[in-house]
Amino acid sequence: MVRAIQVGLGGWGFSWAKEIVPTVERVAPVAYVDANPEAIRRVQTELGVAPDKCFLSLEEAIAKTDADLVLATLRTEAHHPVVGQALDLGFNVLVEKPFASTLAQARDLVARAEKAGRILMVSQNYRHNPAPHKVAEMVANKTLGDVNLVSIDFRKHAPSVGYRFWEMPDPLLADMAIHHFDLMRMVLGDDPKRVSCRTWNTTDSQFVHHPIGVATLEFEKGTVVSYRGSWMSGAQDTAWSGAWSMDCSKGEIWWSSRDHRATGNLPDIVRTRDLSGEADEIALPKLDHLDRAGTLNAIATAIETGRTPPHFSSGQENLLSFALVEATIRSASQAGAWVEIGDL
Ligand SMILES: NC(=O)c1ccc[n+]([C@@H]2O[C@H](COP(=O)([O-])OP(=O)(O)OC[C@H]3O[C@@H](n4cnc5c(N)ncnc54)[C@H](O)[C@@H]3O)[C@@H](O)[C@H]2O)c1
Repeated sequence: MVRAIQVGLGGWGFSWAKEIVPTVERVAPVAYVDANPEAIRRVQTELGVAPDKCFLSLEEAIAKTDADLVLATLRTEAHHPVVGQALDLGFNVLVEKPFASTLAQARDLVARAEKAGRILMVSQNYRHNPAPHKVAEMVANKTLGDVNLVSIDFRKHAPSVGYRFWEMPDPLLADMAIHHFDLMRMVLGDDPKRVSCRTWNTTDSQFVHHPIGVATLEFEKGTVVSYRGSWMSGAQDTAWSGAWSMDCSKGEIWWSSRDHRATGNLPDIVRTRDLSGEADEIALPKLDHLDRAGTLNAIATAIETGRTPPHFSSGQENLLSFALVEATIRSASQAGAWVEIGDL
């Protein structure tokens, strides 16, 4: 069993403790940490966690617990100090997305993981779903030929989905689009070359910073991605992964994933349409562990076996996804000027 200390038990961290960690058989939670005593009380009263497994800091937990893994589900600003401390002390770490607050911090954590000889993984949970797995395979096999143009739409109406973080800087690009940027790299099996991006706000939103953006992203093998994202959309919402049309030389791959509005138990869809117009609904693989359970199971497997499973989002692997956050933010601050990824 991989023994895990979970640090960060806020809105999302509590959900990890309640709904995700107990579903991953090879992980045993051995300690729970949050700087806020209220968050600690909640895991004790609602999940029945024993008080001697609860701590207000990582230092206190480490002094009293043996563990292999730190699961860092704390707010993004705290990722760099807490993940850095855990790595320096010799723990493997699974950290929530976004990796850190800046690319420099992310690079620093990758270097510290390497120095400590420990596994650092970013929980890019959207990767661990049937549709992106299938589409990555179809693109790699050139099932419908080369991918020339990808159009992605992400639409949610934040006030209608219980959104809380109205003052967060770059709520679309830093917090949400990182999922879509990372999926682009995964399904295309390619890396970005340059980006141009514009963002804006609506006149009536509670957001302090820009919740809407459009970006053009050029990839090394020649694919161009047109990305449109909105947290303030009055139009029909999309699945959390967005709606993807992949325009290939021999037809189209259309897909979406993590659709919480879907009926039945498989919210992912992949459809193809070839040049003759013939459409097909593609059978999807069954994954043993989905979404966040998929990332946790992947790092536990890597710790136990020393081998990383396919689509493993190590810290090193995540740097280019995270670079797209910094590149789009920089471009948006310069009225959409092209930003070369190699310049970051
Ligand atoms: N993958 C996804 O789909 C997804 C969805 C939601 C949130 N997230 C990510 O999860 C993370 C947490 O989000 P949240 O909504 O739970 O935030 P939150 O603000 O509700 O909770 C953060 C918790 O971290 C604790 N904390 C902060 N600094 C600490 C420290 N130094 N030591 C111990 N505890 C500390 C706070 O007390 C708080 O309880 C963020 O990085 C966010 O981006 C990911």
